[in-house]
Amino acid sequence: MYVKYVVLLTVLSVEFCHGIYPYFDTQDFIYNVPKVYRISITLDKLLEYYEKKPSKDPEWYIALGMARGQLEYTINELDKSVPAKLKENLQNITRRMDRIRNNTDFPSFVYRSKDYEYVAKAIFENLDVLSTLMEPITIGTMGTQKPYRFTFEQYVQEARTKMPTRKAADACTMQLLISAMESQTTKTDGTCELTPECSAQILKGSGMAFQQTSRIRAAALAYLFDCMEGLDLNAHIYKLCIQVYKESKSLEAWDHPPGTKTLFMQQILYCAAQGYGEFIKPRWMNRILTWQEPKGCYSDDRQPFLKLTGFVGPVSAPSDKDREEEYRVKKAATSEGGACNSLTSAMALGSLVIYVRALLETDQAFQYDVLT
Ligand SMILES: *[C@@H]1O[C@H](CO)[C@@H](O)[C@H](O)[C@H]1NC(C)=O
Ligand SMILES: *[C@@H]1O[C@H](CO)[C@@H](O)[C@H](O)[C@H]1NC(C)=O
Repeated sequence: MYVKYVVLLTVLSVEFCHGIYPYFDTQDFIYNVPKVYRISITLDKLLEYYEKKPSKDPEWYIALGMARGQLEYTINELDKSVPAKLKENLQNITRRMDRIRNNTDFPSFVYRSKDYEYVAKAIFENLDVLSTLMEPITIGTMGTQKPYRFTFEQYVQEARTKMPTRKAADACTMQLLISAMESQTTKTDGTCELTPECSAQILKGSGMAFQQTSRIRAAALAYLFDCMEGLDLNAHIYKLCIQVYKESKSLEAWDHPPGTKTLFMQQILYCAAQGYGEFIKPRWMNRILTWQEPKGCYSDDRQPFLKLTGFVGPVSAPSDKDREEEYRVKKAATSEGGACNSLTSAMALGSLVIYVRALLETDQAFQYDVLT
């Protein structure tokens, strides 16, 4: 018996070398069509909500612009065998996105700080370009990362010891973008360089939770704007995403503790957008779909989590000015009605659109279903 099993396994692994799924032809992805239908219904409802109640959160519009680019690319590349009705659904979604974008009331935006305002505006100015840059999605590079052995409480404690805080991250991203804009506009050979503190923040030490996703965003921007020449930023982002993968799996293993939904979807969005297909899992998609509020938006009370992990804070008395700012940001984020949160909604939008793209890209076909 033993020998027989070994032989069988050997045969199977040889099969695997010829083509991962020898039983299906190139139309495998057609089995993903029902999944995409479900996502498109969710997306439509989410966008409908924000079309009626425009957000004042810049992150929502950044996510919208990026998602628009991904979706347009997906529609243009659709295989002939994708049902016409699904294609029409996706096109209708892009139209809704355009209507929301056309009605953007920029002066009404609320920014958490001056640094962040600069960052958001610089991203807006370049959004048309940024949204067309697409990394191919592949799988097989993240390894089989296991969830952390420690508990969620320990994870929160560990995150406190990491860097950077949101304030420091905003300051560094601003500096990066100022340098990038200057090197783009000056005729002289300006190169985009970072201060040692800022480059240490992006490159050295370690981050966790939102600290880590903010480092990925900064590194991705640095890459797009040709900053930090001579450094292999792609390799760096790869390392960051491997750690994030472990974190995403841990959040799942801890059954998504309160305040962590936004982070989970941001992890998926940032790392899948960098091309890491391990973040595309139908079971994660199902989770995200179930998080939608009946009215269409997404909610997540992440403030306590942000404070406990040390990303925002310190918890000790903020100045009146800070408090006022925090109140305005919070009000803007939740003004869309009750518990709706525009950053959570933005991350849902972004991650789900990446799923649509990945599930309809023929060469990846079925593989996502077997990823653990
Ligand atoms: C797309 O939108 C058009 C115009 O609003 C509508 O008539 C059509 O039924 C929609 N298509 C789908 C598949 O929902
Ligand atoms: C958005 O505005 C542009 C320019 O004003 C216009 O051409 C386009 O049709 C509008 N799109 C939608 C969906 O309203």
